Amino acid sequence: MQYNFDKIIPREDTNCVKYDLRQVVFGNPKVLPMWVADMDFETPDFARNAVIARAEHPVYGYHFKDEPYFKAIQGWLLRHHQWQVDLEWMSFVPGVVCGFNMAVMAFTKEGDEIIIQSPVYPPFHHAATGHNRKLVYNTLKVGEKGYEMDFELLESQAKTAKMLILCNPHNPVGRCWTHDELLRLSEICLRNHVLVIADEIHCDLVLPGFKHVPYATLNEETANHCIVFHAASKTFNLAGLATSTAIIPNKDMRDTFNNYVHSMEAELGNIFGKVATQASMEQGDEWLSQLLDYVQGNVDYVADFLAQKLPKVRFFKPEATYMMWLDFNGFGLSEEELWLKMTRGAELGLNRGKEFGQEGSGFFRINLACPRSTVEEAMRRLYSEFG
Ligand SMILES: Cc1ncc(COP(=O)(O)O)c(C=O)c1O
Repeated sequence: MQYNFDKIIPREDTNCVKYDLRQVVFGNPKVLPMWVADMDFETPDFARNAVIARAEHPVYGYHFKDEPYFKAIQGWLLRHHQWQVDLEWMSFVPGVVCGFNMAVMAFTKEGDEIIIQSPVYPPFHHAATGHNRKLVYNTLKVGEKGYEMDFELLESQAKTAKMLILCNPHNPVGRCWTHDELLRLSEICLRNHVLVIADEIHCDLVLPGFKHVPYATLNEETANHCIVFHAASKTFNLAGLATSTAIIPNKDMRDTFNNYVHSMEAELGNIFGKVATQASMEQGDEWLSQLLDYVQGNVDYVADFLAQKLPKVRFFKPEATYMMWLDFNGFGLSEEELWLKMTRGAELGLNRGKEFGQEGSGFFRINLACPRSTVEEAMRRLYSEFG
């Protein structure tokens, strides 16, 4: 079956963050919204059909996640990432962000240092600051070919830190970390007893030519000192169903984490997230493969357009995620001037770079999980304001 990613789905008036909060976030309800990380594509038919079938049953009471549910995730991780996960390693969490915040609470105490690799997804910052932990920035370096981890800095930071929250692959810079990079990070963290929380929510959105390495597959010791979070929500556009998975190979750590989740009464979740996730993990292979080709087409379109028409906008092509991290500092404008030109002049709703860390000042993150015609319109608007 050929899926149609060109189709425009009107999303206004659905309490949709991306469209219906434009006035609040951008001060302009007319911006073309290419910010928050969900897709403008239809959630695939197999996921919607599973939700509709469950919705037909007239009782929406409490439920639990059963073995077929976890087996579907297990099968997906094996097929797509060659990761053999035991069923008992997995447990439900209502979201990846919620999950890593619970891990912070369960495994660190007030004042402990938590390392993040900025610029990075804003909730990574809040996971430390929101719970009175100390944030330590292992800021990424910009190399010839793209962003790199700063291992020298990490060596010194790991001596006193308790936890590192890893974004694998990385949002917003789009790096799909290699086996060697992850191994080096894990050696430093193991030697210094730094617990690694691996947010792998983007792991299925790896673009053609790249390969995701699940952090826990590096070696047994690494597997025993990490918590991995996975979800079908980014991959299949299910974010509103609040359903994710914690994967913890180490039994003691698993007990500690699951006890914390239980203490918050957060382990049940909703019936629709269960059936949509299960259907996606069982039936989503072909849809995902077509999606990734389409997203790659959008990335190529933007990369060619910018290189030809707006060379002052600098970028590295993403290896993973449907986002591009664009550097507008070449225009020599202040952060505020750039924001006004983007939101009032170009009328584009992109994520403001400084929210990902101070090194994101003058950057914007654009979400390319949308029909090609939206991408073309965005480039037209950008050129008319910045060209
Ligand atoms: C790296 C990363 N982690 C987590 C999330 C959100 O996960 P959830 O909706 O499961 O909390 C996002 C969404 O953009 C993300 O980019």
